Amino acid sequence: MKEYSLIDGRMIPGIGFGTWQIPDGEIVKESVRIAIANGYRHIDTAAIYDNETGVGEGIAASEVRREELFITTKVWNSDRGYDQTMRAFERSLEKLDVGYVDLYLIHWPARGDSGRKENLDTWRALETLYKEGRAKSIGVSNFLRHHLIDLINDGEILPMVDQIEYHPGYTQPETVDFCREHNILVEAWSPLGSGKMLENEQLKQMAEGYEKTVAQLCIRWCLQNETIPLPKSTTPERIIQNLDVFDFTITDEDMAVIDNLPYIGGSGLHPDKINF
Ligand code: A2P
Repeated sequence: MKEYSLIDGRMIPGIGFGTWQIPDGEIVKESVRIAIANGYRHIDTAAIYDNETGVGEGIAASEVRREELFITTKVWNSDRGYDQTMRAFERSLEKLDVGYVDLYLIHWPARGDSGRKENLDTWRALETLYKEGRAKSIGVSNFLRHHLIDLINDGEILPMVDQIEYHPGYTQPETVDFCREHNILVEAWSPLGSGKMLENEQLKQMAEGYEKTVAQLCIRWCLQNETIPLPKSTTPERIIQNLDVFDFTITDEDMAVIDNLPYIGGSGLHPDKINF
């Protein structure tokens, strides 16, 4: 498994198992258990996914030691602010029941001028959790350049990760370039565009040339662009397939073709326009 080093020197596995939209209970428990049994060591959830209990149960059911796993969760928008975030963290940790979180993220930036203070107050809570060692690393999600600049200017600790929507046709270059300049690792949510990439003819043809699936091509493309894909699946064969991406290399020419694909679908969610 490819690994990256975070700014604070800790290692993060290069592919994570995404759990967005996987229902709590047996389904997520079993998906996480299968993912870990097949080599995933990095699991990504969030309070709003409402599946932290099942994710924790899947981890407990796995035969891998806690220290070998990298667990991420996120504070939801309705819990912004210092005290609320501290309480939200306790709830997440209790549900996950994993002792500590490897990476705690602010899920979405708050908007506008009032949002700047809210983001900073939330970030202060993450800084406290980091200093207490309860969140081993801290970062953000869906932060654009201007949100990151505010945190860097006014915060004490640099965010270590920015988890953004990232897939062919939607590469957010301004945010990614800024992250690179500041040693902030980029994680890719919806690396398959929530499945929308899979029917694209150009990607299908290219994938065939490598004797791989479009999903594997997208995941490999993320890796070669030094982002950490978080593919989600509840289908055991696909969970396994999505990690089987280390026996081929996309040529520079094909990388450039994928890098330059026009928009072919995605979530349509923009951090400065969301109303949740
Ligand atoms: P399923 O959970 O039924 O396997 P993303 O990670 O971009 O959000 O995409 C997730 C979507 O892509 C889910 O609908 C998932 O379906 C599907 N998916 C995940 N991996 C694969 C794969 N290897 N082949 C086909 N579809 C996949």
